[in-house]
Amino acid sequence: MNPGHMRMSGAPLKKGEFKKNIKKLVLFMKPYLIPILIALVFTAGATVLSIYAPQILSDLVNVITAGLLTGAPVVMSDVARFAVILIIFYACNALCTYTSSYIMTTVSQRMCRKLRTQISEKINRVPLKYFDSHPYGDTLSRVTNDVDTIGNSMQQGVSMVVQSVCMLVGVLIAMFVTSWQLALTVLIIVPFMALLLFVILKFSQPQFRKMQDELAVLNSKVEENYSGQLVIKAFNAEKRTGADFDKTNKKLKNCTFKAQALSSIMQPAMTFISYFAYAAVCVVAGLMITDPQSGVNFGTLSAFLVYVNLFQSPLSQIAQAANVLQSAAAASGRVFAFLEEEELSDESDKKYLLKDGVRGEVEFRHVRFGYSPDRVIIPDFSAKIQPGWKVAIVGPTGAGKTTMVNLLMRFYEVNSGDILIDGVSIKDMPREEVHDLFGMVLQDTWMFAGTLRENIAYSKDVSDEEIRKACDAAGISHFIATQPGGLDHYVENGDEISGGQKQLITIARAMVENAPMLILDEATSNVDTRTEEVIQEAMDNLTHGRTSFVIAHRLSTIKNADMILVMRDGNIIEQGNHEELIAKDGFYAQLYNSQFAGDC
Ligand SMILES: Nc1ncnc2c1ncn2[C@@H]1O[C@H](COP(=O)(O)OP(=O)(O)OP(=O)(O)O)[C@@H](O)[C@H]1O
Ligand SMILES: [Mg+2]
Repeated sequence: MNPGHMRMSGAPLKKGEFKKNIKKLVLFMKPYLIPILIALVFTAGATVLSIYAPQILSDLVNVITAGLLTGAPVVMSDVARFAVILIIFYACNALCTYTSSYIMTTVSQRMCRKLRTQISEKINRVPLKYFDSHPYGDTLSRVTNDVDTIGNSMQQGVSMVVQSVCMLVGVLIAMFVTSWQLALTVLIIVPFMALLLFVILKFSQPQFRKMQDELAVLNSKVEENYSGQLVIKAFNAEKRTGADFDKTNKKLKNCTFKAQALSSIMQPAMTFISYFAYAAVCVVAGLMITDPQSGVNFGTLSAFLVYVNLFQSPLSQIAQAANVLQSAAAASGRVFAFLEEEELSDESDKKYLLKDGVRGEVEFRHVRFGYSPDRVIIPDFSAKIQPGWKVAIVGPTGAGKTTMVNLLMRFYEVNSGDILIDGVSIKDMPREEVHDLFGMVLQDTWMFAGTLRENIAYSKDVSDEEIRKACDAAGISHFIATQPGGLDHYVENGDEISGGQKQLITIARAMVENAPMLILDEATSNVDTRTEEVIQEAMDNLTHGRTSFVIAHRLSTIKNADMILVMRDGNIIEQGNHEELIAKDGFYAQLYNSQFAGDC
């Protein structure tokens, strides 16, 4: 997989894209607006409480210092009263913070679940050609990484921004209300802080983006190495792949280091600058305290020292939130791009047309098709297959045999021409009906994590007796009997089953399906010749009276076909039964004789 082909989460966003993506995210969040607003009210509440608390602290200090200055005893009941109020304030603050983060966590997790559900439903609705041009890892990372990034940024980013803005505004108001002279003193540091923020963000942002890019490259390398382990070992390529991985790993380390090192300067530098504010506030307040007219006392001073601290934190929080929102925008761009992919056309208004039984006549009428518009694979294909025929499609690799089957199953739509079953165009039937008409054994065997029984019965509800019969016919009963648990043996991913055994299982699956027509694409290419003969017999029994399409490279297996279509470069160059084609002494005869010679 070439990661350069995909937009990675966190990759630099084009101008305007950030806004567009965030807008989509906000629209998606609409149903959760009320809980989000409630959470934000709690966040604002917590912020207000933490801003107001220094006022009480100020009162508390004043109660104590009043006694010290006048020599009168400290009124302990007042001290206790203010202390209790202060504790209640902070307790309410903690409660508000917890409630808001609880709501935000619930909302963001619900949102993630909804996004994942939508993506997984979407996977069933995009046409197969989507999968041809999008690597598996890419879609996988949209379901996992990108959705997670969105969830986390929702949880942190949104409340972080609200909290910081509330805090900033609140602290400013509180400071000006308390003493405008001291408030102005604190504000002197703002330009320095802003400059610092600007410089750090300017240098750290590109490093953060680069970091996410490199992380994506690293992920795809891990995936590649994982899936290609056997080939890597067989070609002794461990050193090469190891060095390649090391290079990416080092790059990732370097930019992560730079990004983190730069952004970790932020906090200490902010604190450092804020010490100037502390000093300035102390000096100015010290001068003012001596003047009773100024209204500044020790309480004001202590409150201001807390304000200076409260004032510098939202600035760096806003900077962090900018980072978080940036990656949320990138991730939501990728997720929504997938959700907006073109879907298979809606067929809910189409009715099943061949409900009353299928004869099995199949006609290809001037079919023209290419996977991409600029490369035609099948230029003009016509053939008429009588009900109950066994049709063999033969031809060299890449001739377009599997492509024909893909078109017959409506996995892809023809560019022009038509395919008719019993005289009805498959375009007029719902796709599900076409799929119901054919039992299919694909060239690529596929098994999922589940028991052998589940793998064979798959989408059907069938009795054990039927499964057993199918297994007998497919010649897989012995294998199943030797597995611990028999049909209940759990298969992780099919890697522990040989290629031939997998094919037999998929044949049993097609037999259980018991569809009116059958397609076998290289169904027995991986099994030994003796097993193949047994299956051949079972297949012949199964296909007896049913129209079936058999693709086989081993021509001995299709000798008894009613019709053999010989394909080359997407065209049918010869057609007829075995004897006719041999007599013709054309391409088929050449193919057959070369195999026959090879077998000897
Ligand atoms: N999903 C796809 N996207 C683009 N091109 C494809 C796709 N699948 C197949 N092709 C191309 O279409 C041509 C026909 O492929 P097809 O799979 O039909 O061959 P085949 O006759 O089944 O070969 P084989 O005997 O190797 O199975 C090939 O040139 C192949 O590269
Ligand atoms: Mg093929």
